[in-house]
Amino acid sequence: MSEVNSSRNTPVSDFMTNVQPDELQNGWKVYVEKDGEKRRAEILSVQKMKDGTNKFYVHYEEFNKRLDEWVRADRIDLSRPVEIPRPEKKRVTESSEKSKSKLSKVANKGRGNKAPKKSTPSTAATTPGSADDKDMMDMDEINPNGSAAGEFNREEEIEKLRTSGSMTQNAHEVSRVRNLQKIVMGEHEIEPWYFSPYPIELTEEEVIYICEFTLSYFGSKKQFERFRAKCTLRHPPGNEIYRDDKVSFFEIDGRRQRTWCRNLCLLSKLFLDHKTLYYDVDPFLFYCMTVRDDRGHHLVGYFSKEKESAEGYNVACILTLPQYQRHGYGRVLIDFSYNLSLKENKQGSPEKPLSDLGLLSYRAYWSARIVELLMEGGAKREMTIDDIATQTAMTTTDILHTLQTLNVLKYYRGQHIICITEAVEAKYEREKGKKRIRIDAEKLHWKPPVFTAAQLRFAW
Ligand code: ACO
Repeated sequence: MSEVNSSRNTPVSDFMTNVQPDELQNGWKVYVEKDGEKRRAEILSVQKMKDGTNKFYVHYEEFNKRLDEWVRADRIDLSRPVEIPRPEKKRVTESSEKSKSKLSKVANKGRGNKAPKKSTPSTAATTPGSADDKDMMDMDEINPNGSAAGEFNREEEIEKLRTSGSMTQNAHEVSRVRNLQKIVMGEHEIEPWYFSPYPIELTEEEVIYICEFTLSYFGSKKQFERFRAKCTLRHPPGNEIYRDDKVSFFEIDGRRQRTWCRNLCLLSKLFLDHKTLYYDVDPFLFYCMTVRDDRGHHLVGYFSKEKESAEGYNVACILTLPQYQRHGYGRVLIDFSYNLSLKENKQGSPEKPLSDLGLLSYRAYWSARIVELLMEGGAKREMTIDDIATQTAMTTTDILHTLQTLNVLKYYRGQHIICITEAVEAKYEREKGKKRIRIDAEKLHWKPPVFTAAQLRFAW
């Protein structure tokens, strides 16, 4: 093996040639054949197979993690040098020191003024397939990058969640390797996209069965069928606050339906990369959208919302189950979230950062909604940003950003004005031609829930 430095000044990687497949290790960067092209990829995991050869879990650079996959050595181009990044020891130590002191500063501030407790469930769940912490993959023990346990700043993550309600996680904390192969839910077979901390023994099964009503999970079909035969739940366990001829919405309180909501978080983590769950569903309400048939209400998607958001977020996490994606349901979920904000007389925005698909969906919604409003109301009279905010419940930041993207903000005689362009008119006509499911505000039977201070104190 020969070793070459990548740069003369501050080498961050070494390059090795003549590497053999069984020498490849986690973190090394190689070229992998993908869809007829050679793509640079990082090895995230190496596993020995029964025949003694290795398989490699790779992440393609500049591609979403959804495309990460197991490959065999014959797809790896070892005629090219293999890049071996150098460990960044100093930086890790510095950053963990910094975050420690930051943590001690914020620990006295947030809600309830309690020190963060280890956030495993306080109530042991006994339902089959429920989130019993004994069986769960412990996030503390997940060590995907071979880092020392102390380097993961779990407390800081919990503090972030506690003070901001954020479900955003440190990219290094959870495993980077997808752990379930296939799930069966109702009539659908679904391939998970990302890691989710289901119980370890389930990760050995080829198929996991998820009850579409209780969201309980089973490693065996027989067990699942026995459970289904007895289970009578046919809709999400909350109040139906909206119903039209296409969809229904149920409101579920994380505190009252802990097990169900934890099961929902586990399920949704399979398709949400940048959000995490600490089983602390108490601070959230879950708005679940279903479609009905004679067997019951089938879950299509949901969004979670903090009971109290200091940042004015009206959505924490949003998901359309993959089997229902690209049918306009994401837009219905988003529209519903803004309808709730309108009822609350508040302006809201989704929690950041958004995923790639989240950003696409929100941008599409914001621009369609604003164009519709401008064309149906504003074209006939003057309309200010505040008018748009009042009528849509969107924040002025999101509105301004969308107006800029639409290229309709002009500077005229010393002030900014909205100027409807031909492109906007054409967009409006295109949108009008699309058949969309729309929320009918009249059918929403909902009063913003009010919580007492005690109800908003969560056991951290
Ligand atoms: N490729 C390109 N554009 C897309 C895609 C895609 N795969 N998915 C959505 N869009 C855009 C399109 O503009 C689309 O409008 P169009 O169909 O008229 O062109 C628009 O988004 C809305 O599409 P929907 O069909 O209404 O959305 P869908 O039901 O597929 O749900 C969602 C969108 C919720 C983001 C879904 O992709 C999902 O669950 N993804 C995984 C979880 C996730 O990333 N959630 C967002 C995280 S951010 C947060 O939680 C605040």
